[in-house]
Amino acid sequence: MNLAELNRVANAMVAPGRGVLAADESAATVKKRFEVIGVECTEDNRRDYRELLFRSKGMANISGVILFDETIRQNAKDGTPLVKIIEQAGSLPGIKVDRGVKPLPFSPGEVVTEGLDGLRERLVEYRGLGAKFCKWRAVIEIGPGIPSYNCIHANTHALARYAALCQDEDLVPIVEPEVVMDGDHDIGRCYEVTEFALKMLYQELFHARVKLEGTVLKPNMVVPGKNCAKQASAEEVAEKTLRVLKECVPASVPGIAFLSGGQSDLDATARLNAMNRIGPLPWKLSFSYSRALQAAPQKAWSGRVENVGAAQSAFAHRAAMNGLASLGKWSADLEKQAA
Ligand code: 13P
Repeated sequence: MNLAELNRVANAMVAPGRGVLAADESAATVKKRFEVIGVECTEDNRRDYRELLFRSKGMANISGVILFDETIRQNAKDGTPLVKIIEQAGSLPGIKVDRGVKPLPFSPGEVVTEGLDGLRERLVEYRGLGAKFCKWRAVIEIGPGIPSYNCIHANTHALARYAALCQDEDLVPIVEPEVVMDGDHDIGRCYEVTEFALKMLYQELFHARVKLEGTVLKPNMVVPGKNCAKQASAEEVAEKTLRVLKECVPASVPGIAFLSGGQSDLDATARLNAMNRIGPLPWKLSFSYSRALQAAPQKAWSGRVENVGAAQSAFAHRAAMNGLASLGKWSADLEKQAA
């Protein structure tokens, strides 16, 4: 393991004013997103859509791109590998390596992420294709009587085994324990579950001998459930999220890049900004968004070649707004000026 190089890559992923674009949706997830905009989910359409993002000037604010297995092997329309286009934009290619979730036995309503079998061999191949970092997402649901210890233990143990394998193959692991927003629980319940998951995660990473300097954490923000009657201000989300992170995440972690998790585009930006206005913090706080970066360009594109420029501008706008939020320099006025 080359820890100096892992640390360099991890720091680059959270460089000032930049963050990660999660473009690693499976074909099934892209199908759902394309249905909303009336686009057929073909391999060419997936390629054309992602190519327009990777060729957008918005890449100036994108430090790294998480790809799906199909995309890391795909060429642009002119034959250039998509990985090369990402590198030419000054961004690092990464790859999602988990194989999705399966029901956890004897734990109704809970899931465990799979993908450890054969992972080392896949990591070697992905490194050969240009990947510099990886992602593995654990899903933790909140509901009556869940999550269980069994769910959090199984998922954080798998995350630690994945992270150790990545580092042994000189790839930076993004460790993502996502406490999902579905449900009517309040913000306090999200805090408790997030604390439980992060405490167990760092214990498992320690036992697996993972070097935290060569990792990036991708957590949820501490937010009320989507169906909770009492929603929270950006300041409350920022205060509670920072409190739990300070309780749980060692200072040797170079950066924390949040998932958006179904928050609105503006909430995802405003809440990240509110956190970065509170300082000083031991780690960089940035973004690793899929939906909160892509909803606007998807809508603008709607599968039409004449809309490519508008879609690229919509993506560049969200990337720039989140880049400013990663510095605590965003304000709502900047959204209006651009509209
Ligand atoms: P969202 O930002 O849409 O939550 O996706 C981030 C991600 O990569 C989930 O694994």
